Amino acid sequence: MIDTENLTKKFGETTAVDSVTLHVDEGEVFGFRGPNGAGKTTTVRMLACLVAKSSGSATIGDYEIANKADQPKIRNMVGLLTENVGLYEKLSAYDNLDFYGRFYKLGEQKRKERIEYLLRLLELWDKKDVAAGTFSKGMKQKLAIARALIHDPAVLFLDEPTANLDPEASKTVRGFILELKKEKRTIFLNTHLLDEAERICDRVAILKTRLVTIGSPEELRRSLSGRKVKVQLQLMDDAIISSVKKMGYQVEEVTTNSVVINLKEPEKENPAILRAIQSAGGKIVFVTEVGSSLEDVYLKLVKGE
Ligand SMILES: Nc1ncnc2c1ncn2[C@@H]1O[C@H](COP(=O)(O)OP(=O)(O)OP(=O)(O)O)[C@@H](O)[C@H]1O
Ligand SMILES: [Mg+2]
Repeated sequence: MIDTENLTKKFGETTAVDSVTLHVDEGEVFGFRGPNGAGKTTTVRMLACLVAKSSGSATIGDYEIANKADQPKIRNMVGLLTENVGLYEKLSAYDNLDFYGRFYKLGEQKRKERIEYLLRLLELWDKKDVAAGTFSKGMKQKLAIARALIHDPAVLFLDEPTANLDPEASKTVRGFILELKKEKRTIFLNTHLLDEAERICDRVAILKTRLVTIGSPEELRRSLSGRKVKVQLQLMDDAIISSVKKMGYQVEEVTTNSVVINLKEPEKENPAILRAIQSAGGKIVFVTEVGSSLEDVYLKLVKGE
């Protein structure tokens, strides 16, 4: 549904997005993560035809972003939630959506249906006659999401949709994104939130001007070689540490009652390690896997940690 090839954007001397090649399937929830200034918003703005690319190419469905005749078709096909919410403060929630519905040339009946459907879904129906300017940040964000969906777009670009939301509202929005996925919509989601990426994205790309990596959350997690297990004990002593080291394992973070062991496959290696610890007199309280999360992968790739 979305294809880019060496997509590049330069602002004067600054390269904001450098040779990004990716493919997003129809019905996929695709996550984009990267540090501030990585080019996430710029990529989305290029794909939604809001800013011209410098080089490379990209298509949305059968349409090419740089083709003037295709651009209106792309705009009709995509919904966009940007960093700037872009609501009319004086207009009510309902009238804001009605305005955008007219902009997309939706008929009166269709507008009514869509507005009621979206406002109810996002729990704003009670506030439909209230001026958007008086809304809280989170309510504005929800209204902006409704606005992005007013014309029933097949492709949705969400640039940090839960950035201003409280945990409960974030959950509503994430649930809502998954509902949209069921409707076979393609969702391109910029997020800083690991949890969000992990819970709802089929695949995640990490961008740092260039594409650093791309894969399912599971694939990315596995890409970090090595895993870690934390063994908590009633009391740690040197004999326990040397019994683990003798087996050839590296240990780190030794405290008075815990040790973190580097290993490859905890499922296979844990039993022997735990037996050795017990033989050395250790009384095991708890065993947990630590690290090797998507966050570790992200930090390692982005910050070189
Ligand atoms: N209109 C513009 N003019 C000049 N430079 C720009 C413009 N828009 C973006 N940039 C630059 O492009 C780079 C990428 O910015 P972008 O907003 O795409 O990053 P981002 O990944 O969305 O970051 P964030 O996580 O902070 O939202 C930055 O260096 C930014 O300063
Ligand atoms: Mg951004």
